[in-house]
Amino acid sequence: MSIKLEDIKYTYMPGTPFEKVALSDLYLEIREGEILALIGPTGSGKTTLLQHINGLLRPDSGSVFIDGEELTKKNLFKIRQKIGYVFQYPEQQLFEETVFKDIAFGLNRLKLPEDEVRARVYDAARLVGVSENLLERSVFDLSGGEKRRVAICGVLVTKPKYLMLDEPASGLDPEGKNAMLRLLKTFRDAGITVIFVSHNMNDVAETADRVVVINDGRIERQGTPREIFTEHDFLSGIGLSVPDVTDFFRLLSERTGVEIPDIITLDEGYAYLRDVYSKGGIPS
Ligand SMILES: Nc1ncnc2c1ncn2[C@@H]1O[C@H](COP(=O)(O)OP(=O)(O)O)[C@@H](O)[C@H]1O
Ligand SMILES: [Mg+2]
Repeated sequence: MSIKLEDIKYTYMPGTPFEKVALSDLYLEIREGEILALIGPTGSGKTTLLQHINGLLRPDSGSVFIDGEELTKKNLFKIRQKIGYVFQYPEQQLFEETVFKDIAFGLNRLKLPEDEVRARVYDAARLVGVSENLLERSVFDLSGGEKRRVAICGVLVTKPKYLMLDEPASGLDPEGKNAMLRLLKTFRDAGITVIFVSHNMNDVAETADRVVVINDGRIERQGTPREIFTEHDFLSGIGLSVPDVTDFFRLLSERTGVEIPDIITLDEGYAYLRDVYSKGGIPS
Protein backbone atom coordinates (compact mmCIF):
# COMPACT_ATOMS: atom_id res chain seq x y z
CA MET A 1 0.00 0.00 0.00
CA SER A 2 1.14 3.52 -0.59
CA ILE A 3 0.27 7.15 -1.12
CA LYS A 4 0.10 8.22 -4.75
CA LEU A 5 -0.18 11.68 -6.22
CA GLU A 6 -1.13 11.76 -9.87
CA ASP A 7 -0.78 14.77 -12.09
CA ILE A 8 -1.52 17.28 -9.34
CA LYS A 9 -1.92 20.93 -10.18
CA TYR A 10 -2.62 23.62 -7.62
CA THR A 11 -2.75 27.42 -7.93
CA TYR A 12 -3.11 29.85 -5.03
CA MET A 13 -5.46 32.80 -5.55
CA PRO A 14 -6.29 32.07 -9.19
CA GLY A 15 -7.54 34.93 -11.29
CA THR A 16 -6.01 37.58 -9.02
CA PRO A 17 -2.79 39.57 -9.40
CA PHE A 18 -1.37 37.28 -6.65
CA GLU A 19 -2.01 34.10 -8.63
CA LYS A 20 0.73 31.55 -7.96
CA VAL A 21 1.04 28.10 -9.51
CA ALA A 22 2.37 26.15 -6.52
CA LEU A 23 2.27 22.58 -7.88
CA SER A 24 2.14 21.32 -11.44
CA ASP A 25 2.55 18.00 -13.30
CA LEU A 26 3.25 16.46 -9.95
CA TYR A 27 3.51 12.68 -9.67
CA LEU A 28 4.79 10.99 -6.53
CA GLU A 29 4.56 7.66 -4.79
CA ILE A 30 5.30 7.26 -1.09
CA ARG A 31 5.91 3.65 -0.18
CA GLU A 32 4.78 2.08 3.02
CA GLY A 33 7.57 1.64 5.58
CA GLU A 34 10.01 4.25 4.31
CA ILE A 35 11.35 7.52 5.65
CA LEU A 36 10.97 9.93 2.80
CA ALA A 37 12.64 13.34 2.92
CA LEU A 38 11.17 16.17 0.87
CA ILE A 39 13.72 18.86 0.03
CA GLY A 40 13.54 21.97 -2.11
CA PRO A 41 14.24 25.70 -2.01
CA THR A 42 11.99 28.03 -0.01
CA GLY A 43 8.70 28.50 -1.83
CA SER A 44 9.13 25.39 -3.98
CA GLY A 45 5.85 23.82 -2.80
CA LYS A 46 6.86 21.46 0.03
CA THR A 47 4.19 22.56 2.49
CA THR A 48 1.57 22.79 -0.26
CA LEU A 49 2.39 19.20 -1.21
CA LEU A 50 1.97 17.93 2.37
CA GLN A 51 -1.34 19.74 2.63
CA HIS A 52 -2.60 17.90 -0.44
CA ILE A 53 -1.76 14.56 1.11
CA ASN A 54 -3.90 15.17 4.17
CA GLY A 55 -6.64 16.91 2.24
CA LEU A 56 -6.21 20.36 3.79
CA LEU A 57 -5.89 21.54 0.20
CA ARG A 58 -7.67 19.97 -2.75
CA PRO A 59 -5.93 19.83 -6.13
CA ASP A 60 -7.30 21.89 -9.02
CA SER A 61 -6.75 18.80 -11.12
CA GLY A 62 -5.24 15.36 -10.58
CA SER A 63 -5.80 12.88 -7.76
CA VAL A 64 -4.42 11.80 -4.42
CA PHE A 65 -4.73 8.10 -3.57
CA ILE A 66 -4.28 6.77 -0.05
CA ASP A 67 -3.84 2.99 -0.07
CA GLY A 68 -5.59 2.84 -3.42
CA GLU A 69 -8.54 4.96 -2.38
CA GLU A 70 -8.93 8.34 -4.00
CA LEU A 71 -9.22 11.24 -1.58
CA THR A 72 -12.55 12.97 -2.18
CA LYS A 73 -14.69 15.41 -0.23
CA LYS A 74 -16.86 12.53 0.91
CA ASN A 75 -14.25 10.20 2.36
CA LEU A 76 -11.90 12.93 3.59
CA PHE A 77 -12.71 12.49 7.28
CA LYS A 78 -12.28 8.72 7.17
CA ILE A 79 -9.10 8.61 5.09
CA ARG A 80 -7.49 11.52 6.88
CA GLN A 81 -7.36 9.39 10.03
CA LYS A 82 -4.60 7.40 8.38
CA ILE A 83 -2.49 10.54 7.95
CA GLY A 84 -0.87 12.41 10.80
CA TYR A 85 0.28 15.93 10.00
CA VAL A 86 2.74 17.74 12.25
CA PHE A 87 2.84 21.42 11.28
CA GLN A 88 6.01 23.46 11.35
CA TYR A 89 6.53 24.67 14.96
CA PRO A 90 3.61 22.54 16.24
CA GLU A 91 4.42 23.50 19.83
CA GLN A 92 2.91 26.93 19.14
CA GLN A 93 -0.48 25.26 19.15
CA LEU A 94 -0.25 23.71 22.61
CA PHE A 95 -2.74 25.39 24.92
CA GLU A 96 -4.23 22.93 27.42
CA GLU A 97 -3.54 23.05 31.17
CA THR A 98 -1.48 19.90 31.27
CA VAL A 99 0.69 17.88 28.95
CA PHE A 100 -1.73 14.95 29.25
CA LYS A 101 -4.72 17.06 28.17
CA ASP A 102 -2.79 18.50 25.27
CA ILE A 103 -1.79 15.09 23.99
CA ALA A 104 -5.34 13.80 24.40
CA PHE A 105 -6.93 16.81 22.71
CA GLY A 106 -6.96 15.29 19.22
CA LEU A 107 -8.97 12.35 20.54
CA ASN A 108 -11.84 14.44 21.91
CA ARG A 109 -13.94 14.24 18.79
CA LEU A 110 -13.46 10.47 18.50
CA LYS A 111 -15.42 10.00 21.75
CA LEU A 112 -13.32 7.11 23.00
CA PRO A 113 -13.70 5.56 26.46
CA GLU A 114 -11.50 7.15 29.10
CA ASP A 115 -9.23 4.16 29.60
CA GLU A 116 -8.61 3.96 25.83
CA VAL A 117 -7.67 7.66 25.80
CA ARG A 118 -5.31 7.06 28.71
CA ALA A 119 -3.71 4.05 27.05
CA ARG A 120 -3.17 5.92 23.81
CA VAL A 121 -1.63 8.94 25.56
CA TYR A 122 0.74 6.72 27.56
CA ASP A 123 1.69 4.69 24.45
CA ALA A 124 2.43 7.82 22.43
CA ALA A 125 4.41 9.37 25.30
CA ARG A 126 6.47 6.20 25.68
CA LEU A 127 7.22 5.95 21.94
CA VAL A 128 8.28 9.59 21.75
CA GLY A 129 10.22 9.60 25.02
CA VAL A 130 8.04 12.02 27.01
CA SER A 131 8.45 10.75 30.55
CA GLU A 132 5.33 9.96 32.59
CA ASN A 133 6.11 12.50 35.27
CA LEU A 134 5.75 15.28 32.70
CA LEU A 135 2.17 14.35 31.85
CA GLU A 136 0.55 16.27 34.71
CA ARG A 137 2.81 19.28 34.31
CA SER A 138 2.06 22.46 32.38
CA VAL A 139 3.46 22.61 28.87
CA PHE A 140 5.10 25.88 29.87
CA ASP A 141 7.51 23.94 32.10
CA LEU A 142 8.97 22.05 29.16
CA SER A 143 12.03 22.69 26.98
CA GLY A 144 11.60 23.48 23.29
CA GLY A 145 12.42 19.92 22.25
CA GLU A 146 10.06 18.46 24.85
CA LYS A 147 7.23 20.73 23.72
CA ARG A 148 7.67 19.62 20.16
CA ARG A 149 7.65 15.97 21.19
CA VAL A 150 4.44 16.57 23.15
CA ALA A 151 2.88 18.14 20.05
CA ILE A 152 3.90 15.08 18.02
CA CYS A 153 2.33 12.81 20.65
CA GLY A 154 -0.90 14.71 20.07
CA VAL A 155 -0.82 13.52 16.47
CA LEU A 156 0.33 9.97 17.25
CA VAL A 157 -2.61 9.27 19.57
CA THR A 158 -4.84 9.06 16.53
CA LYS A 159 -2.65 6.12 15.40
CA PRO A 160 -1.77 7.35 11.91
CA LYS A 161 -0.30 4.94 9.41
CA TYR A 162 1.51 7.77 7.64
CA LEU A 163 3.15 10.62 9.54
CA MET A 164 4.12 13.87 7.81
CA LEU A 165 6.32 16.40 9.58
CA ASP A 166 7.11 19.85 8.22
CA GLU A 167 10.66 20.80 9.30
CA PRO A 168 10.53 18.75 12.51
CA ALA A 169 14.09 19.56 13.63
CA SER A 170 14.20 23.26 12.82
CA GLY A 171 14.79 25.64 15.70
CA LEU A 172 15.82 22.90 18.16
CA ASP A 173 19.15 22.85 19.98
CA PRO A 174 21.61 20.16 18.79
CA GLU A 175 20.52 17.68 21.42
CA GLY A 176 16.81 18.17 20.67
CA LYS A 177 17.54 17.95 16.98
CA ASN A 178 19.39 14.66 17.24
CA ALA A 179 16.65 13.24 19.44
CA MET A 180 14.10 14.28 16.80
CA LEU A 181 16.01 12.58 14.00
CA ARG A 182 16.35 9.38 16.02
CA LEU A 183 12.64 9.60 16.66
CA LEU A 184 11.86 9.52 12.94
CA LYS A 185 13.66 6.16 12.75
CA THR A 186 11.81 4.95 15.83
CA PHE A 187 8.52 5.73 14.06
CA ARG A 188 9.57 3.87 10.95
CA ASP A 189 10.68 0.90 13.01
CA ALA A 190 7.28 0.95 14.74
CA GLY A 191 5.65 0.56 11.33
CA ILE A 192 4.75 4.20 10.62
CA THR A 193 5.65 5.58 7.21
CA VAL A 194 7.41 8.92 7.69
CA ILE A 195 7.47 11.89 5.32
CA PHE A 196 9.50 14.87 6.49
CA VAL A 197 10.52 18.22 5.07
CA SER A 198 14.01 19.47 5.85
CA HIS A 199 16.43 22.21 4.90
CA ASN A 200 19.31 20.43 6.53
CA MET A 201 21.10 18.11 4.14
CA ASN A 202 23.12 16.49 6.96
CA ASP A 203 19.87 15.47 8.61
CA VAL A 204 18.43 14.18 5.35
CA ALA A 205 21.52 12.10 4.53
CA GLU A 206 21.64 10.60 8.01
CA THR A 207 17.93 9.85 8.30
CA ALA A 208 16.10 9.35 5.00
CA ASP A 209 15.66 6.13 3.05
CA ARG A 210 14.64 8.10 -0.01
CA VAL A 211 14.82 11.74 -1.03
CA VAL A 212 12.48 13.72 -3.26
CA VAL A 213 13.59 17.06 -4.66
CA ILE A 214 10.90 19.59 -5.49
CA ASN A 215 11.63 22.79 -7.34
CA ASP A 216 9.14 25.38 -8.53
CA GLY A 217 6.19 23.04 -7.88
CA ARG A 218 7.64 20.09 -9.78
CA ILE A 219 9.45 16.99 -8.66
CA GLU A 220 12.82 17.13 -10.32
CA ARG A 221 14.66 14.20 -8.75
CA GLN A 222 14.03 11.26 -6.49
CA GLY A 223 16.34 8.57 -5.26
CA THR A 224 18.43 7.32 -2.38
CA PRO A 225 20.40 9.94 -0.42
CA ARG A 226 23.49 8.71 -2.31
CA GLU A 227 21.85 9.16 -5.70
CA ILE A 228 20.66 12.65 -4.81
CA PHE A 229 23.73 13.97 -2.99
CA THR A 230 26.14 12.94 -5.70
CA GLU A 231 24.33 15.38 -8.01
CA HIS A 232 26.23 18.32 -6.67
CA ASP A 233 25.82 20.56 -9.73
CA PHE A 234 22.10 19.97 -10.06
CA LEU A 235 21.54 20.76 -6.37
CA SER A 236 23.65 23.90 -6.33
CA GLY A 237 21.88 24.99 -9.53
CA ILE A 238 18.60 25.19 -7.62
CA GLY A 239 20.18 26.66 -4.49
CA LEU A 240 20.50 23.50 -2.41
CA SER A 241 23.61 22.11 -0.79
CA VAL A 242 25.03 18.68 -0.06
CA PRO A 243 25.89 17.32 3.41
CA ASP A 244 28.91 18.99 5.08
CA VAL A 245 30.81 15.71 5.13
CA THR A 246 30.26 15.30 1.37
CA ASP A 247 31.62 18.81 0.76
CA PHE A 248 34.57 18.19 3.05
CA PHE A 249 35.78 15.05 1.30
CA ARG A 250 35.10 16.51 -2.14
CA LEU A 251 37.23 19.55 -1.29
CA LEU A 252 39.93 17.38 0.22
CA SER A 253 40.04 15.31 -2.95
CA GLU A 254 40.24 18.43 -5.15
CA ARG A 255 43.03 20.00 -3.08
CA THR A 256 45.15 16.87 -2.77
CA GLY A 257 44.38 15.10 -6.03
CA VAL A 258 43.69 11.95 -4.07
CA GLU A 259 40.70 10.08 -5.39
CA ILE A 260 38.11 9.76 -2.66
CA PRO A 261 34.75 8.04 -3.18
CA ASP A 262 31.59 10.09 -2.63
CA ILE A 263 30.87 10.19 1.07
CA ILE A 264 27.35 11.00 2.23
CA THR A 265 27.26 10.30 5.97
CA LEU A 266 29.63 10.66 8.92
CA ASP A 267 29.72 6.86 9.28
CA GLU A 268 30.91 6.52 5.70
CA GLY A 269 33.56 9.18 6.29
CA TYR A 270 34.74 7.36 9.38
CA ALA A 271 34.85 4.01 7.55
CA TYR A 272 36.87 5.58 4.74
CA LEU A 273 39.43 7.11 7.13
CA ARG A 274 39.70 3.90 9.12
CA ASP A 275 40.40 2.02 5.92
CA VAL A 276 43.05 4.53 4.87
CA TYR A 277 44.79 4.40 8.26
CA SER A 278 44.68 0.62 8.37
CA LYS A 279 46.50 0.53 5.03
CA GLY A 280 49.37 2.53 6.42
CA GLY A 281 48.37 6.15 6.59
CA ILE A 282 47.02 8.98 4.51
CA PRO A 283 47.97 8.57 0.87
CA SER A 284 50.22 11.30 -0.50
N1 LIG B 1 -1.79 30.91 1.31
C1 LIG B 1 -1.07 31.25 0.23
N2 LIG B 1 -1.50 32.19 -0.64
C2 LIG B 1 -0.78 32.53 -1.71
N3 LIG B 1 0.39 31.98 -2.08
C3 LIG B 1 0.87 31.05 -1.26
C4 LIG B 1 0.18 30.63 -0.07
N4 LIG B 1 0.91 29.67 0.54
C5 LIG B 1 2.01 29.50 -0.22
N5 LIG B 1 1.99 30.31 -1.29
C6 LIG B 1 3.01 30.38 -2.37
O1 LIG B 1 3.08 29.10 -3.00
C7 LIG B 1 4.44 28.74 -3.23
C8 LIG B 1 4.75 27.43 -2.49
O2 LIG B 1 4.66 27.66 -1.09
P1 LIG B 1 5.00 26.56 0.01
O3 LIG B 1 4.29 25.30 -0.34
O4 LIG B 1 4.70 27.17 1.32
O5 LIG B 1 6.57 26.38 -0.21
P2 LIG B 1 7.68 25.72 0.75
O6 LIG B 1 6.98 24.99 1.86
O7 LIG B 1 8.47 24.84 -0.15
O8 LIG B 1 8.52 26.87 1.25
C9 LIG B 1 5.28 29.91 -2.77
O9 LIG B 1 5.56 30.72 -3.87
C10 LIG B 1 4.38 30.64 -1.79
O10 LIG B 1 4.68 32.01 -1.76
MG1 LIG C 1 7.08 25.22 3.94
